[in-house]
Amino acid sequence: MEPAEPEPNRRSVLSLLTFGLVAIFNLIIGVPIVCYAIDPRHRKGAKSNFKLVEGVKLNEIGENTPVQGVIRDVRVDGWTLYPNDVIGRVWVVQKGTQPDLSSADKVTAFNAKEQSLKEAYLLVFTTICPHLGCSVNLDSAGGGFACPCHSATFTLAGAQAVPATNPAKRGMDTLEWEIDSADPNRINVKYQNFSTSIAEKKTI
Ligand code: FES
Repeated sequence: MEPAEPEPNRRSVLSLLTFGLVAIFNLIIGVPIVCYAIDPRHRKGAKSNFKLVEGVKLNEIGENTPVQGVIRDVRVDGWTLYPNDVIGRVWVVQKGTQPDLSSADKVTAFNAKEQSLKEAYLLVFTTICPHLGCSVNLDSAGGGFACPCHSATFTLAGAQAVPATNPAKRGMDTLEWEIDSADPNRINVKYQNFSTSIAEKKTI
């Protein structure tokens, strides 16, 4: 007579349970990290703290016609990790003629220029109002920008439209930007937040 198959004992069941829980936990943590790593927005090329501006193609915008773009990145809220969340928005304003960016060398040379020289071609503003942080819209009446919260208005160059009565103590905040090395019709910005309600542009 053959001996009976031994039943799994309590310890092996607990081991299996623990192994299963660890595997599930690793999946929950690992999948967003892998998604982040393989996301093309985090490819080599842009400086690590520069983010792709989505929704703006330089060959599709016109001079003095602001276009809004979106910045996405990983966002952590408590224990929840959002691998591809909208972390900010920008206004892009073309001020001058698009430079010749027909080769990688020309893109590299353009990106090496001082920010002030790049801004003769393109200005990039955060949409966050420097007064108290509302989102600045286009001003359909004035042709520049207007904040819906306390009526601050700004020119297309981001300056206070009426400094004497403007609730904002400074103009709109520009962001550093560069041409994307993989697609010269796209830009990356150094997305930053700034203190509101003060005259000085100060990074938070
Ligand atoms: S927050 Fe924009 S005017 Fe006050």
